[in-house]
Amino acid sequence: MGPPSLRPIHKWIVFCCLFVICVVFLPQQRTNDAPSPKFKALLPVTTTLDDSEDPNDSFPYSSIRVQDATALPLYFVESSQCKIPYVDPFGADTVAVYKRMVYEPCSNDTALVTPIYDVGRQRYVLHINETLATRLLQSREIEYNCYYQEIKRSPSDGYDSVDRKYFSQDYVVPLHVEALILGCHRIDNTSHILQSDAYTLVQFKAPQPGLSLEPSKRKPSLLMFGIDSLSRINLRRTMPKVYKFLTGRGWYELQGYNKIGDNTFPNLMAILAGYSPESAKEQVCDWKTNGCLDETPFIWKYFKNASYLTAYAEDESGINTFNYVKPGFNEQPTDYYLRPLQKAAESDLDTWKCADCSMRYCIGRRETSSYAYDLCKEFARRYVVEQPIWGLFWSNSFSHDDYRMPSKMEDYVLQYMLDLKSDGVLEQSIVIFLSDHGSRYGEIMYFESGFLESRLPSMFIYLPPWFRAQYPEYARALELNQHRLTSNYDLHNTLKHIIELGSPDGHPLPKSYDCPKCHSVFYPMDEQRTCEDAGIPEHYCTCVPYKRLSGDWPRRIAPRVIERINEYLSGRNLSSICANLSLSYIHETEIRVALDQNFHDLQSTSDTAVYRTMFKVKQNSADFRATVVFNNITEAVDVNVTSISRLDSYENDATCIADKTDKLYCICLSNLKE
Ligand SMILES: *[C@@H]1O[C@H](CO)[C@@H](O)[C@H](O)[C@H]1NC(C)=O
Ligand SMILES: *[C@@H]1O[C@H](CO)[C@@H](O)[C@H](O)[C@H]1NC(C)=O
Ligand SMILES: *[C@@H]1O[C@H](CO)[C@@H](O)[C@H](O)[C@H]1NC(C)=O
Ligand SMILES: *[C@@H]1O[C@H](CO)[C@@H](O)[C@H](O)[C@H]1NC(C)=O
Ligand SMILES: *[C@@H]1O[C@H](CO)[C@@H](O)[C@H](O)[C@H]1NC(C)=O
Ligand SMILES: *[C@@H]1O[C@H](CO)[C@@H](O)[C@H](O)[C@H]1NC(C)=O
Ligand SMILES: *[C@@H]1O[C@H](CO)[C@@H](O)[C@H](O)[C@H]1NC(C)=O
Ligand SMILES: *[C@@H]1O[C@H](CO)[C@@H](O)[C@H](O)[C@H]1NC(C)=O
Ligand SMILES: *[C@@H]1O[C@H](CO)[C@@H](O)[C@H](O)[C@H]1NC(C)=O
Repeated sequence: MGPPSLRPIHKWIVFCCLFVICVVFLPQQRTNDAPSPKFKALLPVTTTLDDSEDPNDSFPYSSIRVQDATALPLYFVESSQCKIPYVDPFGADTVAVYKRMVYEPCSNDTALVTPIYDVGRQRYVLHINETLATRLLQSREIEYNCYYQEIKRSPSDGYDSVDRKYFSQDYVVPLHVEALILGCHRIDNTSHILQSDAYTLVQFKAPQPGLSLEPSKRKPSLLMFGIDSLSRINLRRTMPKVYKFLTGRGWYELQGYNKIGDNTFPNLMAILAGYSPESAKEQVCDWKTNGCLDETPFIWKYFKNASYLTAYAEDESGINTFNYVKPGFNEQPTDYYLRPLQKAAESDLDTWKCADCSMRYCIGRRETSSYAYDLCKEFARRYVVEQPIWGLFWSNSFSHDDYRMPSKMEDYVLQYMLDLKSDGVLEQSIVIFLSDHGSRYGEIMYFESGFLESRLPSMFIYLPPWFRAQYPEYARALELNQHRLTSNYDLHNTLKHIIELGSPDGHPLPKSYDCPKCHSVFYPMDEQRTCEDAGIPEHYCTCVPYKRLSGDWPRRIAPRVIERINEYLSGRNLSSICANLSLSYIHETEIRVALDQNFHDLQSTSDTAVYRTMFKVKQNSADFRATVVFNNITEAVDVNVTSISRLDSYENDATCIADKTDKLYCICLSNLKE
C-alpha cells in the first residue's frame, strides 16, 4: 500500500500527467461527432455517466467548464406545492464578478517521514526519506535524529502531547498511538528542525465475530464527506469536475434538499440527532452546559450500538460545530476522532494563509482540510471490506468565508473522490457528499439567487451496486426523490433506516423529533409535500422562493415598515420611554415568487406583492426583517408588527420594559447608545 496521503507534489505530478494525457488523446477520442477540443468546454454536461463504459476516470473530468445555457432545467423541484427554481451557476450577475481561483500547494517538498501502513503486519512503520534529509542538510556528514510525539485526547476536548520519542528507519509504531506529530532535527541542535509533520493513524481493530457480508444481512458502511457552506449552485459553479463525478452511476442528487436552520449547528444537529437546537434544549438538555453533548442521542451512538466503527473529523478547530461557543465532548464521541490531532497540528506546526483566505489554508506541509479527509481515506482503507463503518469528515477551512474558494480546491477535492473510488470504497459503501447550507454572506448574496444560494446545500447520495441490487425499490425511491422536497430530518431518518437494515430484528429506532412527517429518502416523498411537512421553517423554505431586488424603488418599503413599528409603540403607549425609530440602511429587499410565477422572468400581475425587507435602524443599530404586503402604487404597507423579526439581541436595548414582545421593538431612551 502507498503512503497514507498523496502529497501535494505528487498531486501536481498526477494532474500534470492527466492534463498531458488529455491534450494528447482528446482530439483522437472525440472524432466526428464533436467539435474541436477548444469548443468541448461548451458542451452540456451529460448527467448519465455509466462507469461500466468509463474505464478511465481521468478523461471526463479534464475538460468540463461551463454548462450549455440552452440546456438548463427550469426547476430543481417542480411539484404542486413546491417550485424550487434551478439557477444557472453562470448567470449574468455571476459572470460579471466571479473569477476562478488557482490552487496553491502548501509545500513543494516531499515528506521526510511518512507513516506507511504495512498491510501484512497490520502495523504502521515510519519511513525516513534519507535522500531528502541529506538534501535538506546540504551535507552527508551532518547527522540528524527523528522523533515523534504521541497526541492524545485530553478530557477538555483538547489534546495532550507526550514527550519526544526518537526512532530509527522503518520504526514500527506502537498500536496505542493514534495520532502523532513528528520531525527530524540536526543531532547537535534540537531546534534546527529539518521538517515536521502531523498524522492521524487508523490502527486496525479486529471486527467482532459474526458480521455478515451476505447482502440481505449486511450492514452498509456509510461515509459522509462534508464541505461547509457549499450550495448545489455554487458546487456546479466552482467545482464542475467534482459535480461531474457526483453525477456518475450510483449517485443521486437530492435537488430539493432544503436547509432547516441558518448556520452549521442547527443543520448538523438535525442530521445527526434529529432535533432542532431549540427542541434538543427542551427535550434532551441545554447543549451550552458541560456534559450535555455527551448525553445527546447522536447518530454515531446508534451506529456504534449496531457494531459499526465510527469516526468524526472536522478541520479548523476554533469553529468546530460542537465546540464553538459550546462545551464540546467530555467523552470521546467516536472510535476515531480528529480534533486532538487537528488542535495539536494547529499549534505545533507552521501555518499559512493564502492571500484570499480568512482561515489557515495550510497547516504544516498540507492543506488544513487534508487532515480530516486523510482520516476518511485511511479509515476506509483499513475497514471498508472488513466491517461496517460510519464517519463524518467535515471541512470548514476553505469554503466557509469565500464562495470562490472551492474553485481553488476543485482538483484537490476531486482527487479524494477518485481515491475513494480507486480504493474500492464505491464498491462497498454508501457515500454522502454534503454541505450544511450555502454561502451566507459576501457578494454572492447580492445575486438575484442569493435567497436560494444560502438555503440549498449540496446533497448527493451514492449507493453501491450490491445495495442497488439488494434494494431496488430504495434506489427507485431515491431516484424519484431527487426532484422532491427533502430536508435534514429526512436525512436523519435515512441514517436510522440504514442502521435498521443491518439489524432487521431490532426495534425501530426513534426518528426525527422535529419532523413527524419526515421519512427515509428510500421511500417516495409525497408529491404534495410542503416545507411544513418536511420540517423546514417558513423563513428557509425555497418552495415559494424570494428573489433579490435591485434598484431604487424597493427602497420605499422599509421606511413604511418603520412607521408601522413607531405606530405600534405609540399604540402601546410606549413613546415616552422608547425611541422613535428611523432607518439607517436597508440590507436587502426581496419579492416573493408565487407558485404560478416564473422566477427567471417575473411579471408583475398586480400592484401588490409580498416582499421581505431586512433593514437596520439608527437607534443602537438594531436589525429587523419584515414580510409585508406592499402596494407599489398606493405605497400602502400591510404588516403585523408582532410578526416582524428582530435579528440582533435586544437584551441591552430594552431594560425599561418587561413585555417580551414589546422588547423586540423598543429601544429604551435610557439604553440609547451614541
Ligand atoms: C487510465 O488512467 C490510468 C492512470 O490514472 C492509466 O494507468 C490507465 O492506463 C488509463 N486507462 C486507459 C484505458 O486509458
Ligand atoms: C512551490 O513552487 C512554486 C513554483 O516554483 C512556487 O511558486 C511556490 O511558491 C512554491 N510553494 C512553496 C510553498 O514553496
Ligand atoms: C525522497 O526525497 C527525494 C528528494 O526530495 C525525492 O526525489 C524522492 O522522490 C523521495 N522519495 C520518496 C520515496 O518519496
Ligand atoms: C540551532 O538552530 C536554530 C534554528 O535553525 C538556530 O536559530 C540556532 O542558532 C542554532 N543553534 C546553534 C547553537 O547552532
Ligand atoms: C443496541 O443494540 C441492541 C442489540 O444489538 C438492542 O437490543 C438495543 O435496543 C440497542 N440500543 C439502542 C439504544 O439502540
Ligand atoms: C400612557 O402612559 C402615561 C404615562 O406614561 C399614563 O399616564 C397613561 O395613563 C397611559 N395611557 C394608557 C392608555 O395606558
Ligand atoms: C418619528 O420620526 C419620524 C421621522 O423619522 C417623524 O416623522 C415622526 O414625527 C417622529 N415621531 C415622533 C413621535 O417623534
Ligand atoms: C411595482 O412593482 C413592479 C414589480 O412587481 C415593478 O416592475 C414596478 O416597476 C413597480 N412600479 C413602481 C411604480 O414602482
Ligand atoms: C396579519 O394578521 C392578520 C390576522 O392574523 C392576517 O389576516 C393578515 O394576513 C396578516 N398580515 C400579514 C401581512 O401577514
